[in-house]
Parts: sequence; structure tokens; C-alpha cells
Amino acid sequence: MAEKVLPREMTGAELASMLKSSINFKSLGGLRCEELKLTDDQMQWWRDAKIGMFVHWGLYSILGRGEWVRHNEQIPWDEYKALANEFNPKDFDIHEWTDLAKEFGAKYMVMVTRHHDGFALWDSPGSYEHFTSYETASGRDFVKEYTDAAREAGLRVGLYYSPMDWRFPGYFHPEELPESANAMKAQCYAQVEELVSKYGPIDILWYDGAWLAHKGSDTTSAWLWEPVKLNKMVRKYNPLTIMNPRSGWEGNFYCDEGSHEIEGGIIPVPWEKNMCVCSGTSWGWMPNDPVSDFDWLIHMLVDVICRDGNLLLNVGPDRNGHIPEPVKARMREIGVWLKENHEAVYGTRGGPFEPVDKVFGSTYREKEVYLHIMDPEKFAGVTLEPLTQKILSCSYKGEALSFTQDASGIRLQLPETDTKEPDMIVKLTLDAPIAFKKSADIYFTGKGE
Ligand code: GLC
Repeated sequence: MAEKVLPREMTGAELASMLKSSINFKSLGGLRCEELKLTDDQMQWWRDAKIGMFVHWGLYSILGRGEWVRHNEQIPWDEYKALANEFNPKDFDIHEWTDLAKEFGAKYMVMVTRHHDGFALWDSPGSYEHFTSYETASGRDFVKEYTDAAREAGLRVGLYYSPMDWRFPGYFHPEELPESANAMKAQCYAQVEELVSKYGPIDILWYDGAWLAHKGSDTTSAWLWEPVKLNKMVRKYNPLTIMNPRSGWEGNFYCDEGSHEIEGGIIPVPWEKNMCVCSGTSWGWMPNDPVSDFDWLIHMLVDVICRDGNLLLNVGPDRNGHIPEPVKARMREIGVWLKENHEAVYGTRGGPFEPVDKVFGSTYREKEVYLHIMDPEKFAGVTLEPLTQKILSCSYKGEALSFTQDASGIRLQLPETDTKEPDMIVKLTLDAPIAFKKSADIYFTGKGE
């Protein structure tokens, strides 16, 4: 009888050290449940998509001091609650977001439907004390508007949801106040069920904040949330929803959060970098939040895709739902770049060559390999690892480049150009396809993170 092969156990830190990588996966060590996993085939659309747009918007967007403002400034409940009377973006049309997502080149979106402050952006009968946009000033169900508009635009639909909610004293003292903690849990189950049942098939469920009392991890709080039970309920409505690991269950992909640069080897599991297009001081709107540099963002995107990840880039609309012009301009600029270079990004996988930090990386699909060269000068001395496939041609912007290929590797001659482009893309065409690598079966223990 064939022995069942168990996933290899690792901590995220072990993987990072093996790959000399700067990745820092969140929420590892989640509960295991094979039934909730998805196959490589079921994950394929997401892996091919590569680029997503994240949107943080809520009552905190009125104050402009970050989505954690209520907690950080200990704003009294009555005062914070009253913001719902002001949350009424009369001239806001959600197509502003979906149009931008398209122009940016996103294939999917993730909208924050309810952050830790508890304010739900939809008609949520399960909301504790009816704290929703639908039952306050605006009278609108923004999740409905968003899911309709995103689908209409051909974008895959992702929803962010925070299980925890600062309004419950039981969040801060789950053991001393079990009734309150259980009421928060009941709200979570009811709201997640609403989100996955009322708005058509949800492609991505993006949890954040399944920890308790701002301590421990999502996993150490699984005794309260029972994430396997929660997510089995999700699967009842849509067996193919792709979920991140931040509910305390292992998840279908891993998250690297924040603006730190990505270095090291190709990562052998599905993963997503999520970060802000602005400074990252806050995910929600802040006045004059500086937009990151174009070349830096392209380098980030290239570093992520060459290491086989997706990029989920966040914008923070203002209180009226409008995305600041400088943010739009930058997203569109990236979109123009993506349109020009689409074949080297979408539907590719990272590899076959291991990247060299700050110098180059590669992506591939079937018989095409794309070298993403960020430092042509340093690349001049590089010999690429040998390939079993024969290279038929090598080109830059449609012009043939000379190259040599033998058992010791591949060398090519870059053209003399004084180009300042952030990513010089050289295309290799092979005589036979390279098969996509299967995802490695690793269980991240979360120990010692
Ligand atoms: C961080 C922030 C949180 C934000 C999340 C997005 O965890 O604290 O507010 O929603 O990142 O990934």
C-alpha cells in the first residue's frame, strides 16, 4: 500500500533562511483541514491573475488618521459611532474604483467590507447593534454595488473581513467575558454567511484579525473562532473560494504584508504581497499620503512575480469614496506599463532562473521565458543556469539579440542602450515548453516566528 505522504513541516523562518528571503509570512501554524485545501488547478486563475487592487474604506476614512484610529486614540464609542451619520458619499459611484482597477491592470479586487471598528458596508442583519452603512446616513449596500460593478468589469471579486471587533469587551477579555466573546463570534459567523451567500460567488475571502486581545496569533485564538467550522460553512456556498490563512485555518495561500522589499529565491508555495501604493503608514485614507515612486513600485512588482507571487496593491479612498488624483495617476502609470508588458506578467510563473537580488529575475509560460533585468550593467556578467530546452531566439523589444547556449549555461549580449526603464524585458523563445512547477506541500508550523 502506498504510504500517505505528509506535508513537510517548516517554520516560515526556515523557509526564509533556506531561500535567503526577506519574506515574512503572516498567520502561520493554522489549523489543518485537508478538505478546505484547493488543488493547483483550482488555484490557477488566481496564480495567473498576478495583480489585484485592495481598497480600505470606512468610517476611519472620515478622520484620515488610519484605520486603527478608534483604538489608537481610544475614541469614545458614542463619538465614533456618530461618524456613521456623516458617512454619506452622495456623488460616489463605485465604478470609480472598478474603472481604476481595470486601468491599473488588476485582475481581481479585495474590498474591506468591515474592519476592526465593526462598521459593515452592507445590509447586514447580523451586525451587532445594526452598525451598517445600510442602516445609517447613506442607506447604501456598498458590497452589493461593488460585487456587481466588479463582475460587470470582468474582475474577480474578493472580500476582506475582520472577525474581531473592538466594540466587544469580550474581544479584550475573552476568558473573563465569554458571553461577549461569543456574541462577537456569532456576529462573525452571521456576517461571513451573509457575505458569501448574498452577493453571488465570492472568489476570494481575505480575513484579517482573528487574534484576541491584541495578543498571540490568529492560530492561538482558534479555540474561540473555530475557523475550520467557519470556513466549511463558506465552502457550502462556494467550494472554490480562495482564502488566506488569517482566520486561524491554514488557508489556500500565504501573505507577506507591508512595503519591505522582496529578496531571495523563488517561493515554492502560492503567496501574495499586500502593500500600499502610498507610504503604508495607514491603509485607510490620510491627507497628503505620499505616493511611492514609479520605478520602485515596478521593481517591487517584478521582484514579486519573479518569486512566483501575486501583488495586491492598496488604495485608500477619501470619505466620499474618491481616490486621490496622485494615487490614480500612479496606478494608471503602472497600468500602462502592464499593458505594454502584459505577456511577461499575466499567466506566468516565477522562474526558471533563480533571481539575483536587484539585478534580474525571470518569468515563464510554456515556450516563452522573460528575463526582467533591473540592472543591465551587473547583468552583463551573468551566466544563466543551463536549460534542457533549446533557445530558438532571444529578443529585446522585437529585436534579435545574440546569445550562446551550452552545457555550462546561457550568455547573452544586451543591446547598447541608455534606457532608464526600470525593467528591461528580454524574451527567450524555446523549442519546447517548460511545465509549471507544482506547489510544494509544506505545512508551516508557525513555531518560533
Ligand atoms: C495590517 C493593518 C490592518 C490592515 C491590514 C491589511 O494588518 O494593521 O489595519 O487592514 O494590514 O493587510
